[in-house]
Amino acid sequence: MLKVDLTYVGQHIDEKAGNRLIKRIGEAHKGLKEGSLPGNAFRGWLDLPNTMEPEVDKIQTVAKRLAEKNDVLLVIGIGGSYLGAKAAIEALRPYFSTDKKLEVIFVGNHISSEYMADLRDYLKEKSFAINVISKSGTTTEPALAFRVFKALLEEKVGEDEARQRIVATTDKEKGALRQLAEEKGYDTFVIPDDVGGRYSVLTAVGLLPIACAGIDIDAMLKGAKQAAVDFDVVSEDNPVYRYVMARNALYEQGKKIEMFVHYEPKLQYFSEWWKQLFGESEGKDNKGLFISSAGFTTDLHSLGQYIQEGERHLFETVVNINEPLRDFTVSKTDENLDNLNYLSGMSVDAINKQAMQGTLLAHMDGGAPSIVINIERMDARHFGYLVYFFELGCALSGHVLEVNPFNQPGVEAYKENMFALLEKPGFEDKTKAIKKRLKKTRG
Ligand code: PA5
Repeated sequence: MLKVDLTYVGQHIDEKAGNRLIKRIGEAHKGLKEGSLPGNAFRGWLDLPNTMEPEVDKIQTVAKRLAEKNDVLLVIGIGGSYLGAKAAIEALRPYFSTDKKLEVIFVGNHISSEYMADLRDYLKEKSFAINVISKSGTTTEPALAFRVFKALLEEKVGEDEARQRIVATTDKEKGALRQLAEEKGYDTFVIPDDVGGRYSVLTAVGLLPIACAGIDIDAMLKGAKQAAVDFDVVSEDNPVYRYVMARNALYEQGKKIEMFVHYEPKLQYFSEWWKQLFGESEGKDNKGLFISSAGFTTDLHSLGQYIQEGERHLFETVVNINEPLRDFTVSKTDENLDNLNYLSGMSVDAINKQAMQGTLLAHMDGGAPSIVINIERMDARHFGYLVYFFELGCALSGHVLEVNPFNQPGVEAYKENMFALLEKPGFEDKTKAIKKRLKKTRG
């Protein structure tokens, strides 16, 4: 289903470094499975393809109920509580669609007043439901959005009907959202204790919105299950090992930036999901690759110049989809006024593939190597497979780097300042201190 091609890494990885890293990856893999490494309490995602199977029916039933009665599902969440679902829906639904499937709209993943005000107007004429998702149940952005859109829903359909249209996905007992859901009697799904936000796309966090969008979540879990079997081998040929080895070898040589590259715009949010997964898992203790992304050929007309000739500190991880779901050939014209007849008879995807080939060679020659991950196609099964590939790769890579890939202590710093500035109860001393500091800074 998936192959990791290191042809375009060129001369950048020597055998000795490669062997040393493969050995460390094998040790990390063993430690991850045995639970002897930091973050050991958060390994539940390893087994989600099996543990989620019994929940699929309930998720599908709730999804069907929401889809039958509504035009729109609002998914309220941030970080790991929205990116996986957004990635799947963008990657697996047609670009343009006139079908009557539920429209899924995300909110609560920022604090834009304009976005929320526009959305409020848009929803006035729509029948909508809400899936509010927060593992901690206390995150400010989704809590704020939930307050706004719950009020709108109640105003539109009344409290009793709103109760039927709200589903909360949260911790089994902790947090304000759990309390609120119980008090109001909402349908709920539990986020397992041992699965962190960014590893949670294959729980109800991702699966409910994905199912609501009409995507086959059973196939997605089956793909992940296949991956769990395929990658459970200690071998330098294991595609996960090859990827983790290559990215760490490049990092050790001063390639400090990893750019996720795709040639299919549908993967834009997959790259956002990937960025969160790796950025939040590895960027700590003053270590870790800086994670970025680009969509080609679009960004070859913006970032392309820098990648070819700018500072030599980056490499690419290219996800190539071997077979597009749809393709067609270029026609011939008698006048050939656009001089494009040399392409006639060629499929559009074949042109895209030649663009990729040319870019890979050019970037390698320019000192920007590429790891290429070839995946057969992009359907629900392959999506699940790819998710598992990157989750395992991320956990192993974090352990090779000797960081805990399952925590995110650095995320708290902005929150503390924001709460102090907003004068949240309990932050009185910090409020005084930050105001003093700002007064000084501003002169
Ligand atoms: O990966 C993570 O744990 C985070 O990115 C969380 O998903 C994010 O902060 C949202 O947290 P919560 O689901 O508790 O609202």
